[in-house]
Amino acid sequence: MKDILKVKNLSKNFGGIVAVRDLSFEIKEGETLGFIGPNGAGKSTVVNILSGLIPADKGEVELDGVNITHMKPYQRARLGLARTYQIPRPFPELTALASVTVSALCGKKRKNQSFEDAAVEATHYLEFVGLFSKRNILARDLTFYELRMLELARALATTPKILFIDEVMAGLNPGEANRAVKMIAKAKEQFGLTIFWIEHVMAVLVEAADRIVAIHYGSKLAEGTPDEVVNNDAVIEAYLGRGWKEYA
Ligand SMILES: Nc1ncnc2c1ncn2[C@@H]1O[C@H](COP(=O)(O)OP(=O)(O)OP(=O)(O)O)[C@@H](O)[C@H]1O
Ligand SMILES: [Mg+2]
Repeated sequence: MKDILKVKNLSKNFGGIVAVRDLSFEIKEGETLGFIGPNGAGKSTVVNILSGLIPADKGEVELDGVNITHMKPYQRARLGLARTYQIPRPFPELTALASVTVSALCGKKRKNQSFEDAAVEATHYLEFVGLFSKRNILARDLTFYELRMLELARALATTPKILFIDEVMAGLNPGEANRAVKMIAKAKEQFGLTIFWIEHVMAVLVEAADRIVAIHYGSKLAEGTPDEVVNNDAVIEAYLGRGWKEYA
């Protein structure tokens, strides 16, 4: 399988804090790559850099052979990169349908598409994530679970090749979290996605991921199959703890 994303020697400081330190890894086309590490390890910062929200201090990023290091977020979206946020970022005053329509107009397939066509497409994505009946509700009136699903619909509506998920389960009750995880699997299958997935619930990534990259203080700690990574001494020491399987 070819590498769809190549991250080379990425570094990012915030004032005196080193958030990402000389980090390199690849994502293969079609795989689910889990991305783990303790709170503050730099995971969201990596997604923020890869999606173009913040610039890296050093390093390069290639998407499908194209150097996207200095591209704006919308340019990356057109090349097939989409993300969700750890804390949902809705347009509070837009309806669910309008929110997803905006994404449909911004994504990869954007070929002079009319607003009406984009709205029809958006309706399909809302249906897919189970929000069809909420299409005319303002985003600010949605529940947290519904906001998470709206985030997913907005990302999918850009017709991405690769989807970055920054914690879909956080803030959800166990039943909702379970539904959200199943929704990711369904999206991957239906749309043939490559997925880069940050989650603190190890059992979920062990099940869903083909490989896992673990980071600590912004540096790579381990990389390999889920089995290799969860049994890695450095990962157990820095993040999982010895008894994690009993609590998973
Ligand atoms: N915009 C910012 N300004 C200053 N410091 C920041 C900023 N964003 C992140 N940091 C710091 O960078 C480090 C990495 O944070 P990051 O949010 O990437 O961690 P994370 O691995 O996503 O953690 P969590 O699992 O809690 O979401 C932390 O020390 C954090 O406080
Ligand atoms: Mg984070």
